[in-house]
Amino acid sequence: MTFYRLLRPLFFLLPPEVAHNLALAGLSAAWRSGLLGKSPPGRPADVIGLRFPNRVGLAAGMDKDARHVGAWGGLGFGFVEVGTVTPRPQPGNARPRLFRLPAAQALINRMGFNNSGAAEAAARLAGRPACPLVGVNIGKNAVTPKEKAADDFRAAMREVYGVADYIAVNVSSPNTAGLRDLQAASALDALLGALCAEREKLAAEQGRLVPLAVKLSPDLSHDELEDAARCVSAHPVAAVIATNTTTDRSAVAGLPHAAESGGLSGLPLREVSTRMIGRLRSLLPDRMAIIGVGGIFCAEDAREKIRAGADLVQVYTGLVYRGPGLVRELAEGLADFEVSK
Ligand SMILES: Cc1cc2nc3c(=O)[nH]c(=O)nc-3n(C[C@H](O)[C@H](O)[C@H](O)COP(=O)(O)O)c2cc1C
Repeated sequence: MTFYRLLRPLFFLLPPEVAHNLALAGLSAAWRSGLLGKSPPGRPADVIGLRFPNRVGLAAGMDKDARHVGAWGGLGFGFVEVGTVTPRPQPGNARPRLFRLPAAQALINRMGFNNSGAAEAAARLAGRPACPLVGVNIGKNAVTPKEKAADDFRAAMREVYGVADYIAVNVSSPNTAGLRDLQAASALDALLGALCAEREKLAAEQGRLVPLAVKLSPDLSHDELEDAARCVSAHPVAAVIATNTTTDRSAVAGLPHAAESGGLSGLPLREVSTRMIGRLRSLLPDRMAIIGVGGIFCAEDAREKIRAGADLVQVYTGLVYRGPGLVRELAEGLADFEVSK
């Protein structure tokens, strides 16, 4: 942690995406040199039919192409959500597309699912070690019309099915036009129906039923969230991930970069996402798990998410601001914490 405190000002002098790539290259080098941990910190947890080495995961978007899974395990993550991957590779939006708002401990991104495609990620994940667990987050290509979205999700699911511990259906990124409309009850019902049918087929072929999770936006209204929860509950979905980034800027108004378009993450999202987890817990059946994500910067933030109803947590922006030591801090901070469910 101390080391990162020295490094962070240097990273923050670089454009965010350059710093991101440099940090990930350094992490992988450290992993290959045997400098990272060998066994996960914290305590295992049984959720969605899987044994998680601990309750702390890397949120989607940090390792879109599944290039660093071993290294994330070395930092102490119990699970890693790679992606979002789309059926065909795509470059994402024009740069700059990632912005720091240090005064608010936040980021704004409009990456737009830059990724090298589901097949390439799947090839990289084949034959990986069992720890950490790996969820694969899937989405649609930018050029695919909304009416054809289910075909993209199905194609991505087919590619990654054999290598994923769970599959996350991303209908909540603000950076792909029309994607969030798939959260509306009728569209979500059709999409989940198609994906659950495809999963049945794949399970019969491959002899393994991979759990599905659905990732939701914090910008759903009261009624929209109720409809989405009812719809998800009507399908054999194992978990809801709450939340993705927000387009709301009220918490950062006036700060440099606040007017950039895209999704806001980090500290300003913390309470919004915790509140949504609480509502989801009362709306969803007990069998359904919640993965809590949004503004986790310390163990108490993670405990707050669990208290609100989450079974597992994920981090992205906290890692940028607090550094790699955060992972162990969270895993150990949750280890002795009773989950009151
Ligand atoms: C640069 C960046 C890229 C992201 N890309 C994705 C993505 O591809 N798919 C996804 O579901 N979420 C993506 N997210 C959202 C995160 O997974 C997470 O839900 C959100 O940032 C809130 O968590 P945090 O406050 O800990 O960052 C991205 C977030 C950031 C900051």
